[in-house]
Amino acid sequence: MTNEYSNIAIEALNHKAASQELERLALEITRHDALYHGKDNPEISDAEYDALRRRNLGIEQRFPDLIREDSPSKKVGFVALDKFEKVTHSIPMLSLENAFNDQDVYDFTKRMRKFLNLPAGEKMSLTAEPKIDGLSLSLRYEKGKLVTAATRGDGATGENVTENAKTISDVPTVLAGDNIPDVVEIRGEVYMSHAAFLDLNKRMEAQGKPTYVNPRNTAAGSLRQLDSAITATRPLNFFAYAWGEMSAMPATTQMGMVEWMRACGFRINPLMQSFENIEELLKHYRQIEADRPELVYDIDGVVYKVDDLALQARLGLKSRVPRWAIAHKFPAEKAWTILRDIEIQVGRTGALTPVARLEPITVGGVVVTNATLHNEDYVKGVGSKGEVLRDGKDLRVGDHVMLQRAGDVIPQILDVDLSKRPYGVEPFEFPTSCPVCGSSAIRDVNEKTGKADSVKRCTGGLICPAQAVERLKHFASRGALDIDGLGDKQVEAFYEAGRIADAADIFTLRERDARSLKKLKDMEGWGSTSAAKLFDAIDAVREVDMYRYIFGLGIRHVGEQTAKDLSKTYGDIDAFNKAMTSLSEQQVYDELLSVDGIGSTVAQALKEFFSETRNLDVWNRLLVQVKPKPVEQVANDSPVVGKTVVFTGSLEQMTRDEAKAMAERLGAKVSGSVSKKTDLVVAGPGAGSKLKKAEDLGVETTDEDGWFKLIGRD
Ligand code: IVH
Repeated sequence: MTNEYSNIAIEALNHKAASQELERLALEITRHDALYHGKDNPEISDAEYDALRRRNLGIEQRFPDLIREDSPSKKVGFVALDKFEKVTHSIPMLSLENAFNDQDVYDFTKRMRKFLNLPAGEKMSLTAEPKIDGLSLSLRYEKGKLVTAATRGDGATGENVTENAKTISDVPTVLAGDNIPDVVEIRGEVYMSHAAFLDLNKRMEAQGKPTYVNPRNTAAGSLRQLDSAITATRPLNFFAYAWGEMSAMPATTQMGMVEWMRACGFRINPLMQSFENIEELLKHYRQIEADRPELVYDIDGVVYKVDDLALQARLGLKSRVPRWAIAHKFPAEKAWTILRDIEIQVGRTGALTPVARLEPITVGGVVVTNATLHNEDYVKGVGSKGEVLRDGKDLRVGDHVMLQRAGDVIPQILDVDLSKRPYGVEPFEFPTSCPVCGSSAIRDVNEKTGKADSVKRCTGGLICPAQAVERLKHFASRGALDIDGLGDKQVEAFYEAGRIADAADIFTLRERDARSLKKLKDMEGWGSTSAAKLFDAIDAVREVDMYRYIFGLGIRHVGEQTAKDLSKTYGDIDAFNKAMTSLSEQQVYDELLSVDGIGSTVAQALKEFFSETRNLDVWNRLLVQVKPKPVEQVANDSPVVGKTVVFTGSLEQMTRDEAKAMAERLGAKVSGSVSKKTDLVVAGPGAGSKLKKAEDLGVETTDEDGWFKLIGRD
């Protein structure tokens, strides 16, 4: 069903046309909903359906006065208007400590016994259950009804995905049974089965869309769809295994709680068992490991938990992990493949990084085609601290190599099978010049140690196109200016086409495009809508946070934290500009050294950056285009404003990150080490040398409760 407006871009619709389009879309989407849900006989693909919903939403956002009573955005298929709402977990969602071998498990039980002072003969039961490789979800029920479903997020705050969670058949919307406590928070893992994953990828392929990497990423992506109608087409499952806030406890053991969850209508993992004896527990681990290939979902270890909830309570937490649980991980997966080539990439600071091009191989459920080889020495068989790698075996193109991949870690090459080395292959010769611009590539000598740096760098600086492109990518990237629609591919294409050569050129794109005969909208992959969107996105970052701007320049050694320190110190870009450009090199260097958090390496790098005329040229042209926002001065009367605080020991009421974020929000500076400059040390249980040092130096100390009292949150 189409009308005369159905092919017109949202931006080009007038009020009348928009109204007619919304009417058409309401009818059309309702019809497809009925076909899909009612008759299980969809006429269009998920992607086309998705496009209709997006168009409806886009028009509504442009013409809010035209939103219809019967709008699809108000109905089942619920479309969130923006990103997800945040949910603060009433009790933080924890993570787990890891055990990598049997000894770690014995140590874990020993530690707990010691902590609890359990006599040798006294039994302590542990449960063992698979660690599901999915994403955790917290479901809050009030008076037995599902009210909120939230992702873990950073543990303290997650995203509200209630509508999406309701599409998961394992998630009851009403709890079964009598005597359900008023508040029940059930936590567990959302995952996608292998079959559902393969099936979805087949559908994606048929629609010419990119396929997903593994079931976990797919489950996460599916749960976080803005349109719950899409989540509904992705078969997700849920295992319940933990809880958050409970107004009453229906059981006194872990096993008892999980049994109760089953009675409430949840699925619980059938492989969960409890053991009094560690050997038996480890036997179960090995059994699960052996059964792993047969399971229809991914697991990456076995979780052990103290069964008795009273003991769990006594054991408590240490920072963000419980003392009463541990994840016994399966060993990283390994596989042999062939090293097809070693390519050299040139980064934005000129570092030459060798990259292994591999015969594609599946390791740990992911197809691996590349692996980083770090640097010249690594290829030779030497680690960054001079340690021998792979028994000193070097890597040669054509070698059979063993890959290891654990979790999300970048795959590593662990070994080389010398017996399979093809006859006559030569050692890899690391280039002595930059493969992109031809300038010589050298290893700097560290002034302090007198040793050659492990990284070889192109000396071409600003004339090296590879460095220029990488700098541009960095400038536009998420952590820096975060320009929507200007990703790595677009940067490369624009650079190649001569549209942009440096960061300042980005901001004159629109104006130059308007005067040019070769318009962006006519370039392959672009249209008038996407071109206009990009220009708008560029305009939107003209007022960027000062630290993002400084970070975006890609000055060597100036990371996000240093950029923040500089912004805080100088307050606005004019002051920073003046300090960097109107003083002598030595003065710049000395001034920088007095900035909190900045040492000689960073000061030197900044001095060098601002003494290079071509950098100054870009810097000045950029400042005509961009007006970084001055740093908001923290206007509060908190007693910790401007104070340097150190947190040490285990914090029990907040995570370290939370503590740091909280202190910074109040205007304090958080440091990792105690010195004369420290104003306050907040020490939790187990604090050691830092607390002692503070006492020796006469620095004020307090505990977590004292901290909360001080900041007025007790
Ligand atoms: S218990 C208080 N049990 O692993 C304990 N976690 O590394 C909280 N996970 O964030 C977790 N299967 O997403 C527990 N059977 C299981 C699990 C499990 C998977 C995940 C969970 C957690 C992460 C911690």
